[in-house]
Amino acid sequence: MPPPIATPAPSPGGPPPLIGIFDSGVGGLSVLRALHGQLPGARLLYVADSAYAPYGDRDPEYVLERATRVADHLARQGARMVVVACNTATARAIDMLRLRHPELSWVGVEPGVKPAALASPGGRIAVMATPSTLASARYADLVARHAPGCTVHAVPCAGLAAAIERGPAGADEVEQLLDRYCLPLADMSLDSVVLGCTHYPFVEDRIRARLGDGVRLLDTADAIARRAAQLLPSATVPSPMAANRATVQLQTTGHPERLAGMAQHGLGGHWPVEVVHV
Ligand code: DGL
Repeated sequence: MPPPIATPAPSPGGPPPLIGIFDSGVGGLSVLRALHGQLPGARLLYVADSAYAPYGDRDPEYVLERATRVADHLARQGARMVVVACNTATARAIDMLRLRHPELSWVGVEPGVKPAALASPGGRIAVMATPSTLASARYADLVARHAPGCTVHAVPCAGLAAAIERGPAGADEVEQLLDRYCLPLADMSLDSVVLGCTHYPFVEDRIRARLGDGVRLLDTADAIARRAAQLLPSATVPSPMAANRATVQLQTTGHPERLAGMAQHGLGGHWPVEVVHV
C-alpha cells in the first residue's frame, strides 16, 4: 500500500508553506521555473547538490545517501513539501524519503512514459534518461503499467547530465553526446521522445535539431508543478496577488556563481537570483 500523503498544515494569515526542491544540480531549475509559474506567490527553496553531481551514473546507494542528506537539510530549513526534481533520485530514493520524513508532503519526477503512451497508444517511444533511472525497478514498473502496447526504446545517456551541468565549459561535449544518443533515434520513426532527466530540457533545442519536427518531445515539469499545487491544502495556496511577496532561494553544495549563471539563463531572468553555498 502506498504510504499516506502528508500535506502541509494550513497557516491562516501566515506566510505560505516553504516548498523545497532539489536535484543533483541545475536540472531541477526546469521544475522550479514551472512551480514558480504555477504558484507565483510561493516560498521556494531550491538546493542543487552540484558538488556531488552527477547522480545518474552512480550506484543506487550513492544516490540514496545524497538524497537523504539533502532531504534532511530541507526539513531542517522548514520545508513542508519537498519536490524531488530529479528522475534519478525519485527512482532510487523517494520511497525511503517518504518513510524517513512522513511529516512532509512529497512529489517526485518520473519520465513521462504515461503521457507519451496516452498521446500515441501502441506507438513508438524513446526514453532518454540516466543509466540509473533506466536500470531501476521503478522505471520497469512505469513502462509495464503505462505503455503495455507501445515499443519503448530506452536510451541511457551516460555523461550527458554531467556535461550540461558544466555549462558553457561542457558545450562541446554536450554536442558530441547528443550526436551519439540522438542521431540513431532520428531514423526510428518515433512518435515521442521522453526527456527523462530534468537536465535535458536545457538542451531541448539541440535535441530537436537532431530529431526533426515530426517527433513529440515530452518533459514533465508542468505536470509536476500542477501536482504540487494540488497537494497544497487550498488554505495555503498562495494567491497570485501575493506574487510580490514570493521568495525564491537558491542553495548549492557547489559553486554559487555557476548556479547563478545557469539560473539567470534557465529561468529567463524572471526574478533576481541570489545563490548561497551550503
Ligand atoms: N537531473 C537528474 C535527473 O532527472 C539527475 C542527473 C544526474 O545527476 O545524473 O535524473
